[in-house]
Order: sequence, then structure tokens, then C-alpha cells
Amino acid sequence: MTKTLLSLFSSNQPLKTPPIWLMRQAGRYLPEYKKTRSQAGSFLELCYNSELAEEVTLQPIRRYQFDASIVFADILLIPQALGQKLWFEEGEGPRLDPIQSADVLDHKDLHKHLAPVYETLSRLSKSLPSETTLIGFAGAPWTVASYMVAGRGTTDQAPAKALIQADREKFINLIKYLADVTSDYLERQVYSGAEVLQIFESWAGSLSGNDFEEFCIKPVHRIVKTLRDRGIRVPIIGFPRATDYDLSTYVKETQINGLSVDQHCNLERLAANLDKDIVIQGNMAPEVLVAGGSNMYSEIDRICNMLQGRKHIFNLGHGIVPQTPPEHVADMVHYIRKGHK
Ligand code: CP3
Repeated sequence: MTKTLLSLFSSNQPLKTPPIWLMRQAGRYLPEYKKTRSQAGSFLELCYNSELAEEVTLQPIRRYQFDASIVFADILLIPQALGQKLWFEEGEGPRLDPIQSADVLDHKDLHKHLAPVYETLSRLSKSLPSETTLIGFAGAPWTVASYMVAGRGTTDQAPAKALIQADREKFINLIKYLADVTSDYLERQVYSGAEVLQIFESWAGSLSGNDFEEFCIKPVHRIVKTLRDRGIRVPIIGFPRATDYDLSTYVKETQINGLSVDQHCNLERLAANLDKDIVIQGNMAPEVLVAGGSNMYSEIDRICNMLQGRKHIFNLGHGIVPQTPPEHVADMVHYIRKGHK
């Protein structure tokens, strides 16, 4: 069987029915995920238990036959692999011992620490249905650094922005360091079975102008170039969330092959400006999936009709939220596959 999602990148023809997957498709909206997570003990223990991480990655595939599967892990495993303390506060989110510079980081155990992720990927490449594309991922340096410097998630990334003002050189070094270890990490993911890579820049929206170019574009391009120079040919999707920056320039300068867009992106304008070779992924609002019903069906129609004739992967504009009824996901998949309107 062909891998529909993967083949989209190499063909000249758009598909009649877009391939489908969802960011955070393995997660708390699924009762079977909650069960496996409690078996693992905690979210982080689940990430490092390859057998259980494989199981939760497969759960949404069994239910919905998505066209792609994203390996179960987290963008914050990299800081932990570099020696930074990481834990998750129940109901609150990630916590890290804040850092200000790459000087305190050490990558000598990077691959040893991340070996369970490579193991999860190689298990999945054997257990997934043959038509399912396996996606590997990492956070983009700016987004990961914003957590490393603040020690937690923030709404405005103020601590990292303050460090840019206080010591720009130091911050540039941290970002370059992260770009290099992230390249090594993604390269290993490909050797372990990842067929497509996605780079999550969740906090693209908080930088602008020169800072956006220096800390969002340059490091993502550095990762893409490093991988290409090492002979890695797999398609790479970028996800610069919630930015006003011109997205076709982002694609050109980073050299990514696919662009994942959030729900605020104007698809008509994007499709008019973006090269036809570039795959567009997105962009239904997660709350539309929570509500389901007729409004969801008209959103699916709008998105798919707007991207008709383009290479399109159906996805959300951001991760699926825990309060999503699992049956709405089934309704969504069924409606898209039966050809929507
Ligand atoms: O998409 C998938 O199914 C693959 C797994 C995946 C997770 N996190 C699992 C996860 C991926 C691709 C991520 C990426 C990630 N992690 C991002 C970028 C995308 C985005 O959402 O903007 C970020 C910023 C993180 C960091 C992170 N991890 C935060 C802020 C949180 C807490 C918020 C929350 O939803 O609880 C996490 C936890 C997390 N990562 C969960 C999952 C399934 C929930 C953990 C749980 O089971 O309690």
C-alpha cells in the first residue's frame, strides 16, 4: 500500500482526499491513553518507556486510521537530555530549573538519554500499518529556549526576550547550540524510521523583525541545511504558529517542504502566495472539533475547498484539547474521507 501522506511530497498531483492526522492525536481526550499513562506512572515515564510510548502512538491509529502517526515524545526531552532538570506539575505543565546560557549544558549523553525515543520509532516502523507515514519531531530552538530560560511555559516568553536584550551574544550561542543538537536528534530519528519530520515553533508569534529572522528563521534553516548536508532527504514540515511574518518568505528562507498553519492563517492569501510544491497542513481550530456538528462540517468544507488543487494535509491549527469528544474525531475523519462538499 502507498503511504498517502508521504507520497504527497514527491508527487505533482494534489490528492482528491487530503491525508489526515492531528497534532497531539495521542493524548488525554482518549480513555485508553489515560489508562496507559497511569500504567506508566507519569507523562515523562511514558515518554521514556518505548513499549508504552509505542502503544499510545498506535491508539489513535487503531481508532481512526489516520494517515500519519507522530512518535510519542515531547519537545522538552532535549533540555533534559542536555542535563537541565525537567518535571511536569500535574494540571499545570512543564517546569525546568531555569538556565541563562549554553555553558551549563552538556550533550555528551544526548543520544544515550534519547535512545528510548529512537527505540519507539523503530518499533513503530515495524508495527504501523504499511500505509501510515511515521513522523518524527522536535521543537524549534526559540520555542525550546523560551521554556529553558523561563523554567516554565509563559504567555509572552518575557524571560527569554529579556535575555535577548541583556546579552544577545549569549542568546545567539544558546540558539545555535540547540540547533546543532536538534539536528543530531532529528538525524537519528530518521535512522530509526521517521519518514517525515516536523519542527514545532509554537511561540513564533512572540518575536518580530530582526529577532524573528535571527532566532526563528536562521536556526530552523540551520537545522534543515545540516540535515540536507548529511544526506537526509525526508520531507520537513515547519509550524511557525501565530506569526504575522510573511509565511512564503519563512518557507523560502528555512527551506522547509511543508508548512503547518494555525487557525488564524488566511488560507486564500497563503495559497495565492505560496509555491505550489509546498504542502500546506492545517488548520481547523481545535474548539471547532470540540463542538462538532454542522459548524465543524462547514469548516471542513471551507478549508478543503479553499485548498482544492493544492497539496494539503488536513490537521488542526494547534494540538487537540483534552475535552474533545473522541466521536467528533471519528465524524471528522468520516466526513473528509467520504468527500465532504
Ligand atoms: O502530537 C502528538 O501526539 C505527539 C506527542 C507530542 C506531545 N507534545 C505530547 C504531550 C508533541 C508533538 C508535543 C509537542 C510539544 N510539547 C509542544 C509543541 C506543540 C504545541 O503544543 O505548541 C510544546 C510547546 C510542548 C511542551 C509541553 N508538553 C507542554 C506545554 C505540555 C503541557 C500542556 C498540556 O497539554 O498538558 C506538555 C505535556 C504533553 N505533551 C502532553 C502530551 C500528550 C500532556 C501530558 C499528559 O498526559 O498529562
